[in-house]
Amino acid sequence: MSSPELELTHRQEFSAAHRLHDPTLGDEENAQLYGPCNNPNGHGHTYVYEVTVRGQVPPSGMIIDLNVLRAIMREEIFDQVDHKHLDLDVPFMEGRISTAENLAIAFWECLAPRINDHPGCRLHRLRVHEGPDSHVDYFGPPEQ
Ligand code: NI
Repeated sequence: MSSPELELTHRQEFSAAHRLHDPTLGDEENAQLYGPCNNPNGHGHTYVYEVTVRGQVPPSGMIIDLNVLRAIMREEIFDQVDHKHLDLDVPFMEGRISTAENLAIAFWECLAPRINDHPGCRLHRLRVHEGPDSHVDYFGPPEQ
Protein backbone atom coordinates (compact mmCIF):
# COMPACT_ATOMS: atom_id res chain seq x y z
CA MET A 1 0.00 0.00 0.00
CA SER A 2 1.45 3.36 -0.92
CA SER A 3 1.38 6.16 1.63
CA PRO A 4 -1.02 9.04 1.16
CA GLU A 5 0.04 12.14 -0.70
CA LEU A 6 -0.40 15.56 0.84
CA GLU A 7 -0.18 19.09 -0.47
CA LEU A 8 1.69 21.94 1.15
CA THR A 9 1.13 25.54 0.09
CA HIS A 10 3.19 28.63 0.77
CA ARG A 11 2.26 32.12 -0.40
CA GLN A 12 4.20 35.32 -0.87
CA GLU A 13 3.05 38.83 -1.70
CA PHE A 14 4.86 41.28 -3.93
CA SER A 15 4.22 44.64 -5.55
CA ALA A 16 4.97 45.27 -9.18
CA ALA A 17 4.09 47.42 -12.15
CA HIS A 18 3.24 46.20 -15.61
CA ARG A 19 1.54 47.03 -18.88
CA LEU A 20 -0.47 44.67 -21.04
CA HIS A 21 0.69 45.30 -24.58
CA ASP A 22 1.08 42.96 -27.53
CA PRO A 23 3.95 44.25 -29.69
CA THR A 24 2.54 42.45 -32.74
CA LEU A 25 -0.61 44.63 -32.61
CA GLY A 26 -1.10 48.34 -33.27
CA ASP A 27 -1.71 50.89 -30.54
CA GLU A 28 -5.42 51.08 -31.22
CA GLU A 29 -5.90 47.34 -31.19
CA ASN A 30 -3.94 47.09 -27.94
CA ALA A 31 -6.03 49.81 -26.33
CA GLN A 32 -9.18 47.99 -27.37
CA LEU A 33 -7.96 44.58 -26.25
CA TYR A 34 -6.50 45.50 -22.88
CA GLY A 35 -8.37 48.70 -21.99
CA PRO A 36 -6.90 50.55 -18.98
CA CYS A 37 -4.32 47.76 -18.53
CA ASN A 38 -2.71 49.07 -21.74
CA ASN A 39 -1.99 52.47 -20.16
CA PRO A 40 1.31 53.54 -21.78
CA ASN A 41 3.03 54.27 -18.47
CA GLY A 42 1.83 51.09 -16.80
CA HIS A 43 0.00 50.53 -13.53
CA GLY A 44 0.60 48.55 -10.37
CA HIS A 45 -0.74 45.59 -8.44
CA THR A 46 -0.20 43.89 -5.15
CA TYR A 47 0.21 40.33 -6.32
CA VAL A 48 0.02 37.17 -4.28
CA TYR A 49 1.37 33.92 -5.59
CA GLU A 50 0.96 30.52 -4.02
CA VAL A 51 3.12 27.50 -4.57
CA THR A 52 1.68 24.08 -3.79
CA VAL A 53 3.96 21.08 -3.59
CA ARG A 54 2.73 17.52 -3.42
CA GLY A 55 4.31 14.38 -2.09
CA GLN A 56 4.27 11.57 0.41
CA VAL A 57 5.28 12.29 3.98
CA PRO A 58 8.78 10.87 4.57
CA PRO A 59 10.20 9.89 7.98
CA SER A 60 11.13 13.55 8.60
CA GLY A 61 7.40 14.35 8.56
CA MET A 62 7.90 17.10 6.00
CA ILE A 63 7.14 16.93 2.27
CA ILE A 64 9.66 19.74 1.94
CA ASP A 65 11.26 21.88 4.64
CA LEU A 66 9.16 25.06 4.63
CA ASN A 67 12.27 27.19 5.13
CA VAL A 68 13.78 25.64 2.02
CA LEU A 69 10.60 26.23 -0.02
CA ARG A 70 10.41 29.82 1.22
CA ALA A 71 14.03 30.45 0.26
CA ILE A 72 13.56 28.97 -3.22
CA MET A 73 10.48 31.16 -3.81
CA ARG A 74 12.30 34.23 -2.57
CA GLU A 75 15.37 33.66 -4.73
CA GLU A 76 13.63 32.57 -7.91
CA ILE A 77 10.57 34.84 -7.83
CA PHE A 78 10.26 37.45 -5.08
CA ASP A 79 13.73 38.97 -5.46
CA GLN A 80 13.21 39.15 -9.23
CA VAL A 81 9.78 40.81 -9.25
CA ASP A 82 9.16 42.79 -6.05
CA HIS A 83 9.06 46.55 -6.71
CA LYS A 84 9.97 45.92 -10.35
CA HIS A 85 8.31 46.60 -13.68
CA LEU A 86 7.45 43.12 -14.92
CA ASP A 87 7.87 44.06 -18.58
CA LEU A 88 11.13 46.00 -18.24
CA ASP A 89 13.04 44.60 -15.28
CA VAL A 90 12.34 40.88 -15.22
CA PRO A 91 14.38 38.77 -17.66
CA PHE A 92 12.12 35.70 -17.43
CA MET A 93 9.12 37.78 -18.59
CA GLU A 94 10.87 38.90 -21.75
CA GLY A 95 8.73 38.16 -24.78
CA ARG A 96 5.65 37.36 -22.66
CA ILE A 97 2.61 39.58 -22.15
CA SER A 98 2.48 40.06 -18.39
CA THR A 99 -0.98 38.66 -17.68
CA ALA A 100 -1.51 36.61 -14.52
CA GLU A 101 -1.72 33.53 -16.77
CA ASN A 102 1.71 34.15 -18.26
CA LEU A 103 3.16 34.99 -14.85
CA ALA A 104 1.94 31.63 -13.54
CA ILE A 105 3.61 29.80 -16.45
CA ALA A 106 6.86 31.74 -16.04
CA PHE A 107 6.92 31.22 -12.26
CA TRP A 108 6.35 27.50 -12.80
CA GLU A 109 9.30 27.30 -15.17
CA CYS A 110 11.53 29.05 -12.63
CA LEU A 111 10.43 26.95 -9.66
CA ALA A 112 9.79 23.45 -10.99
CA PRO A 113 13.43 22.43 -11.53
CA ARG A 114 14.44 23.47 -8.01
CA ILE A 115 11.43 22.03 -6.22
CA ASN A 116 11.40 18.77 -8.18
CA ASP A 117 15.03 18.38 -7.25
CA HIS A 118 13.86 17.41 -3.76
CA PRO A 119 13.26 13.66 -3.61
CA GLY A 120 9.61 12.68 -3.24
CA CYS A 121 8.35 16.22 -3.73
CA ARG A 122 7.03 17.90 -6.85
CA LEU A 123 5.52 21.21 -7.82
CA HIS A 124 1.77 20.69 -8.10
CA ARG A 125 0.10 24.05 -8.56
CA LEU A 126 1.10 27.64 -9.19
CA ARG A 127 -1.57 30.18 -8.26
CA VAL A 128 -1.32 33.89 -9.05
CA HIS A 129 -3.70 36.49 -7.62
CA GLU A 130 -3.59 39.84 -9.39
CA GLY A 131 -6.06 41.29 -6.89
CA PRO A 132 -8.44 40.09 -4.21
CA ASP A 133 -11.18 38.88 -6.54
CA SER A 134 -9.58 36.51 -9.01
CA HIS A 135 -6.67 34.18 -9.51
CA VAL A 136 -5.28 31.78 -12.08
CA ASP A 137 -4.05 28.25 -11.46
CA TYR A 138 -1.41 26.44 -13.48
CA PHE A 139 -0.74 22.75 -13.01
CA GLY A 140 2.25 22.56 -15.34
CA PRO A 141 2.74 21.36 -18.87
CA PRO A 142 0.98 18.16 -19.95
CA GLU A 143 2.98 15.06 -19.00
CA GLN A 144 4.95 13.58 -21.86
NI1 NI B 1 -2.73 44.99 -14.48
